[in-house]
Amino acid sequence: MNNEVSFYLNGKAVSIESPPPDLLLIDYLRSPEVALIGPKKPCGQGGCGGCTVILSRWDAVKNKAEHRAINSCLRPVCALGGLVVTTVEGTGAVRKPDPQFLQHTHTGSRSAAPIGGHHSPVFTEAKQAAAGKRRSVHEEIMAKLAKSDIELVELHKEAGVYPSEHSHYGMNPVAYQLALNNGSQCGYCSVGFVMNMSEFIINHPEATKKEIEDAFDGNLCRCTGYRAILTGMKTFASNWSEADEKDRMKCLEDYVCAAQLPSNVVIPFPDSARHSAEPISAQAGGQQWRTPTSLEQLAEILHKHRDHKIRIVHGNTSYGVYKGEYPDTTLFVDIRLIPALHEAGQITDEGIVVAAGTTYSDFIDLFLANPNPKSTAFGALDFMARRTAGRIVRNAASLGGNTMLVLKHFPIGTGEPFPSDLFTALVAIEAKLTFLVLEDNGDFKKHTITAGELVTKVAVTVKTDPTFVDRIVLVSYAMPAGDENDAVLAQKVALREVNAHSIVNATTRFTFAETKVCKIDSAMLVFGGIAPYPWRASKTEKAMAGRELTLASAGALSKILAKEVAEELKSWAKRMKEVPYEGF
Ligand code: FES
Ligand code: FES
Repeated sequence: MNNEVSFYLNGKAVSIESPPPDLLLIDYLRSPEVALIGPKKPCGQGGCGGCTVILSRWDAVKNKAEHRAINSCLRPVCALGGLVVTTVEGTGAVRKPDPQFLQHTHTGSRSAAPIGGHHSPVFTEAKQAAAGKRRSVHEEIMAKLAKSDIELVELHKEAGVYPSEHSHYGMNPVAYQLALNNGSQCGYCSVGFVMNMSEFIINHPEATKKEIEDAFDGNLCRCTGYRAILTGMKTFASNWSEADEKDRMKCLEDYVCAAQLPSNVVIPFPDSARHSAEPISAQAGGQQWRTPTSLEQLAEILHKHRDHKIRIVHGNTSYGVYKGEYPDTTLFVDIRLIPALHEAGQITDEGIVVAAGTTYSDFIDLFLANPNPKSTAFGALDFMARRTAGRIVRNAASLGGNTMLVLKHFPIGTGEPFPSDLFTALVAIEAKLTFLVLEDNGDFKKHTITAGELVTKVAVTVKTDPTFVDRIVLVSYAMPAGDENDAVLAQKVALREVNAHSIVNATTRFTFAETKVCKIDSAMLVFGGIAPYPWRASKTEKAMAGRELTLASAGALSKILAKEVAEELKSWAKRMKEVPYEGF
């Protein structure tokens, strides 16, 4: 066991000895020893983008570095071996000109005291109460530490004098444009926007205004200055026009702004990082981390540690949803470095074959590179993939991880069911999944069945074998494009259009016998969020078969569906109480 993780941080090699498997990158970065406080931790669950950093790896096939904006609040440091992490501090430095005024006095705005005045007694009292609370929390932590045998981890041997000391000299141009366009109010979200855009524009230098706007579905700004933020970002667009420039609300530069030297976006990638990611084994605080590099090693680890509470991780984005399951985990098995789970995706007129380790972003890129407007099945898959979380989460989240959340959480007693958007579509188009099951002798056995059949298999098997889902490893998906008589439609109802869990999602697939009159040969109506698994409205499907789909027939069919849904909701009322109530 190496019990050490080495990676690059803003261009400089760093190592952590005995890295705790539950130590997240954001907590490492913001620790007093490392003191990189550019990335923030507003939500800690992958929902806001405030913690965004850029993770880079060497792609030996393309012979170049691959950069991805990721959420540092979801990334364990144990999953960084041999990789390159860049925070906003590493993408450029702000010049600090000599101050014009040697003293700064609070202005009279907001809760500050008027110039030369005294603070109000209410403010002074609140300030003292806050200081008292901080003191008591600190004392409590120190008392607990003194009593326990916890060993404090040394995170960083030499703390930098100044966090940006390894940066190049020019200012990050994205940050510069954000400032010049009034895009920063409290500034809490700004770094997340800047880092997401810095990676996006490096990977998509010809992006249009629309593409740039779409890239921010994972960044939230609670001051809600989205218009100003997006204007700043769109100044990088290939179709940014003179008219746009004229209409832009310009910020008057002050002397600090005028002193800056914006450069190109630079993501430091040292020559010594030109190698594959490194597998890490670590152990600390009763938890272990293993990184198998082949299916054989994976089988061996799972078999040898079958008495452990194991969590197989890839992008670890499920931490944002199922945080409560982490403290009990005794062994994390990181499957990112197993080549058989990451074969390159193939897309043809017949369908798509993708590995389970494919990230959502790579999956969406496959559609972008191979448009097939005739396949409504592809349209539905693309729609659902783009509605899953936000771009920054999608850069790390894998298709297989998403499916496993469904399979793991629908049996009774396994926690809140997961209404995956993509899985609903996979059931509706009868995608085939190839997966391995760890047998009693420690070998994997391969199976291939449809997504719907897998749900049934899990439902039946876990009744007598509760460990069944924990022994499944997904390998790949075969998603048929369907034929021209198929019409597939994906829909989602959530509190926001993007970056929100479904309250209900649906994928409808009609096969038309006769397209001219819309006569339905067969129907498949699959819903997420009604039952703890993708549920088929089979009575309505039956009623639709052989019928012509017209406005006149739609009313009667809708009534059948409404009745069927009501019955299903009633039968699952107790179980579905675990899903947060959204007021519907
Ligand atoms: Fe909100 Fe990481 S802290 S996404
Ligand atoms: Fe305040 Fe975005 S949250 S500027």
